Amino acid sequence: MAENIPTQTSIPTSKIYDIVILGASGFTGKYVIREALKFLNTPNSPLKTLALAGRSSSRLSEALKWASGSTPPPEIPLLTADTSDPNSLIRLAAQTKIILNCVGPFRLYGEPVVSACVESGCDYLDICGEPEFMEKMEAFYHEKAVEKGSLVISACGFDSIPAEMGLLFHSRHWTGPSVPNRFEAYLSLESDKKLAGNFGTYESAVLGVANSDKLVELRKSRPKRARPAIHGPAPPKGIIEHQKQLGLWGLKLPSADSIVVRRTLATLTENPNGLPGVNESPENIKAREAFWSSIKPAHFGVKFGSKSVLGLFPTIFFGIMLGLLSKLSLGRWLLLKFPSFFSFGIFRKEGPSEDEVESATFKMWFVGQGFSDSSIATQGNKKFDTEVITRVMGPEIGYLTTPIVLIQCALVLLNNRGDLPKGGVFTPGIVFGPTDLEKRLEENGISFDFVSKKALSA
Ligand SMILES: NC(=O)c1ccc[n+]([C@@H]2O[C@H](COP(=O)([O-])OP(=O)(O)OC[C@H]3O[C@@H](n4cnc5c(N)ncnc54)[C@H](OP(=O)(O)O)[C@@H]3O)[C@@H](O)[C@H]2O)c1
Repeated sequence: MAENIPTQTSIPTSKIYDIVILGASGFTGKYVIREALKFLNTPNSPLKTLALAGRSSSRLSEALKWASGSTPPPEIPLLTADTSDPNSLIRLAAQTKIILNCVGPFRLYGEPVVSACVESGCDYLDICGEPEFMEKMEAFYHEKAVEKGSLVISACGFDSIPAEMGLLFHSRHWTGPSVPNRFEAYLSLESDKKLAGNFGTYESAVLGVANSDKLVELRKSRPKRARPAIHGPAPPKGIIEHQKQLGLWGLKLPSADSIVVRRTLATLTENPNGLPGVNESPENIKAREAFWSSIKPAHFGVKFGSKSVLGLFPTIFFGIMLGLLSKLSLGRWLLLKFPSFFSFGIFRKEGPSEDEVESATFKMWFVGQGFSDSSIATQGNKKFDTEVITRVMGPEIGYLTTPIVLIQCALVLLNNRGDLPKGGVFTPGIVFGPTDLEKRLEENGISFDFVSKKALSA
């Protein structure tokens, strides 16, 4: 394995790597390496050069060995970078076309990485699920990113690609004069073993809830975003609901997905034809405009789905504990010290076993309701007469789906950079919606299915 540790002063001037995975030694990072290796120098893959980055070459080397499985680890440079050392990040960003950031919690470690990428005009993707971080990066770095030609796209993991791409897929089934009013996503997690997650995600959630007032303050300080025109009434406020058709009880989640989707719909309202590419062909312009003209916005919410009402209780207990304890320093200490207790054994410091990861799956059902004709809605009707159901389905969310999604987003960037905006801080849906990302996800085990469309009786 080659070691490549540039000195403090040497800032490379050319892009040596297609992709650098930062935080590759982490629990998620090692699964991201494994996914990236599937595409490194394979036929038709745009990924020719890959490097791993982190604080410790020996931990990176261990992660590469794990990710290589039974085959000898390939010769991949291991670069040292620490988010507390801005120079190390500038050197990293100068050497690569894209940084895939797997270092979290993002509220603690993410900003210097975004800043270095923007400064160097390098593209940045991450697996963040923290709304405040994402909106802060948009507020602080969007203009500079446009100027420097750096695309900064957070939430390229399970948060929030299945929701974003699933919503766009669903919306395209509201054809002709029909108009949706609301799309409700029901997330159901399944496994024949125990559902489990790593401490990194738990810590990010605890710190996110602890600082929720900062997001409110940030929004107050920002100009109001455009809202899409949606036909019909506002959605009801209920927290628990029985979705009879799916056979699921749904618990409303304060999910990052609904916030990300809302931002995508705001950008679409401000740019009804989507975002022009930096060097787009006339055919691509036509295809992009046709894609966005087929999207009809609607209210969007996410619910955790469980086959029994009792199955919702662990999530309710966890939510109450998070809400009560995360605002106090002693409470945060307790939450972070005893993750397993507060999450009913789901989050553990050592993370899930490979078996637990392999045996888990997810289904995200999208139930859309609306009107068969927009004129019915404009007559003041409140009763929906049309329902569409679609579904996104895939393997375990954190360590299988997230790496698949992140790597496919990176491959789209490598293949189609000219069709994408020159730079800026964006949500994934508005950038990847019209690309071949959905097809790529299908080819890699994440399916998008039409389930039904029916008339609802009055
Ligand atoms: N979107 C999704 O659905 C999704 C899915 C999975 C994870 N995530 C998010 O991904 C993040 C990571 O989760 P995880 O479970 O993989 O955590 P983890 O196992 O703790 O990994 C964290 C990684 O960050 C590195 N790191 C920490 N501080 C650093 C610093 N100052 N400079 C450079 N690198 C540093 C660590 O490197 P060392 O080896 O040097 O400690 C490690 O590689 C979390 O925010 C989590 O919420 C999101």
